[in-house]
Amino acid sequence: MPQSARKPFIDVLSGQRQSIPPMWMMRQAGRYLPEYREVRAKAGGFLDLCFNPELAAEVTLQPIRRFGFDAAIIFSDILVIPYALGRSVRFEVGEGPRLDPLDDPAKVATLAPRADFGKLQPVFDALRLVRGALDPKVALIGFCGAPWTVATYMVAGQGTPDQAPARMMAYRHPEAFATIIDVLVENSVQYLLAQLEAGANALQIFDTWAGVLPPAEFARWSVEPTRRIVEGVRAKVPDAKIIGFPRGAGALLPAYVEATGVNAVSIDWAAEPAFIRERVQSKVAVQGNLDPLVLIAGGAALDRAVDNVLANFAQGRLIFNLGHGIQPETPIAHVEQMIKRVRG
Ligand code: CP3
Repeated sequence: MPQSARKPFIDVLSGQRQSIPPMWMMRQAGRYLPEYREVRAKAGGFLDLCFNPELAAEVTLQPIRRFGFDAAIIFSDILVIPYALGRSVRFEVGEGPRLDPLDDPAKVATLAPRADFGKLQPVFDALRLVRGALDPKVALIGFCGAPWTVATYMVAGQGTPDQAPARMMAYRHPEAFATIIDVLVENSVQYLLAQLEAGANALQIFDTWAGVLPPAEFARWSVEPTRRIVEGVRAKVPDAKIIGFPRGAGALLPAYVEATGVNAVSIDWAAEPAFIRERVQSKVAVQGNLDPLVLIAGGAALDRAVDNVLANFAQGRLIFNLGHGIQPETPIAHVEQMIKRVRG
């Protein structure tokens, strides 16, 4: 089949509702899969896996083989951009990412303006391998973190419960913080364009920490940089399909959609359905929004939750997904139960 075969996932992003919503899961390649844990163990560290094209391609394809999802997402991480900017980035087992904190204006003055994209060549190689191996009907998603979310890890040097260090720096040193954001905008545009070039059919911008910002800061640090990324990508690839995921944006989602020009938004499980239908899904496609915890619980609660997502959003343009990443303790049988329920 030619690579140009129709992809239901891309059709939804292009404005055509599908009677059975295309589906995939955030973090679908991961520790809940024994075949992932096996590859992960022989790869060495987490970044070694991200930068090994054959192994990264293999774990990207694992959930597609097992579950037949409509989209694969390239196996990588949002923190490869700070890494390519020359920052120290490590993943400690059981602790998450560790970076050298960029928490004062003097340190920001030393930040490289441009990433070394040679360091990310393995990601582009992995994209080519995956695109070559995928059925043409399955879409391949490239991604980056939104500048705000990437900056929260760069400033704190690690994950924190409420990203207080980055919020504080944005209040105390807005110019230095804006420098970090600007560097991330420029390099994210180049990174996303290179992913399209390497075979990605759509892009997702992960703004996991959008929801910790007050509205004015959300507009400045989350919406505006995302708008600039979308504009920068579309300046070169006018019909680029882009999904935004401003987690926790709630009532600010319509403004986000309006300003950024994304083709779809990924919504978390707390989003209010009628509001989303009227103010968001009337304009763009919606992706989501099953609670990852109900996927762990399974049983009748899972069936009810899947039915609710479909009742809430399947009359419009929907990509079925979770409201955030699948958790490592999720039973595979529950994923299968969810897929059967969605596809009938
Ligand atoms: O399957 C996919 O969705 C593709 C791969 C992917 C990963 N990270 C792999 C990963 C994607 C899209 C991401 C994005 C990412 N990374 C985000 C935004 C989305 C989200 O989930 O909120 C963020 C905030 C990060 C930063 C990050 N990476 C953290 C905080 C952690 C540690 C927490 C954890 O789950 O372990 C990671 C590590 C990470 N990224 C893992 C995976 C599969 C686990 C590493 C391992 O296998 O040991």
